[in-house]
Amino acid sequence: MLNVVIFGAPGSGKGTQSELIIKEYGLDHISTGDVLRSEMKNETELGKIAKDYIEKGQLVPDDLIVNMLAKVLDSKENSKGVIFDGFPRTIPQAEALKKMLNERGTDVSIMLNLQVDEDELIKRLLERGKISGRSDDNLETIKSRLEVYHKQTAPLADFYVKEGKHTAIHGMGTIEEIFGRIQEAINALN
Ligand code: AP5
Ligand code: MG
Repeated sequence: MLNVVIFGAPGSGKGTQSELIIKEYGLDHISTGDVLRSEMKNETELGKIAKDYIEKGQLVPDDLIVNMLAKVLDSKENSKGVIFDGFPRTIPQAEALKKMLNERGTDVSIMLNLQVDEDELIKRLLERGKISGRSDDNLETIKSRLEVYHKQTAPLADFYVKEGKHTAIHGMGTIEEIFGRIQEAINALN
């Protein structure tokens, strides 16, 4: 199995690059952000809880996310591999992912860490906010998402360095240029 963790700050291009990776490598996609937004839209219990965190730009508690992910992962049995987008975001989530994959006889193959300048991130998210309808694409929430990313999520890079899975990807330039760098990294795995 080819299991890819796509990692990076809000607006770094995780969702955009995931779509291209899925097409090229035939992987399944799990975006915890997308799952949460769908729960919010359907006004489920989880959606109602998640809404407050998402609108403040804070992380949804680990136990809720890990339970949610386990269910989605079980629905992807017999898959060629999975791209994890926006998960893990904390050390406990990374440990839980490792355990879940190991129990299924597999592991993370590579972690792609998209590196994008802060002003470019803000520019992209404000631009997207004009059309996305996402309740967190406004300047105030973007700022807190970036702060949360630096404090709680960025330190996770070290976890994957220690696992020997970390690959930094220069995330500036055109979507195609960045995808080229990602393909090089994935193709170098075999
Ligand atoms: P999530 O949905 O994961 O959002 P995020 O991390 O803030 O990232 P985005 O989806 O905003 O950006 P992206 O990196 O996917 O970039 P994109 O490709 O869209 O999480 C939302 C919230 O849910 C969190 O804040 C948290 O509350 C909660 N949550 C989710 N997962 C969680 C977890 N595991 N634990 C706890 N809480 C969790 O690109 C952005 C824009 O830029 C797009 O408009 C795109 O078209 C454009 N763009 C992309 N590439 C380029 C380029 N090269 N040049 C110019 N524009 C570009
Ligand atoms: Mg995204």
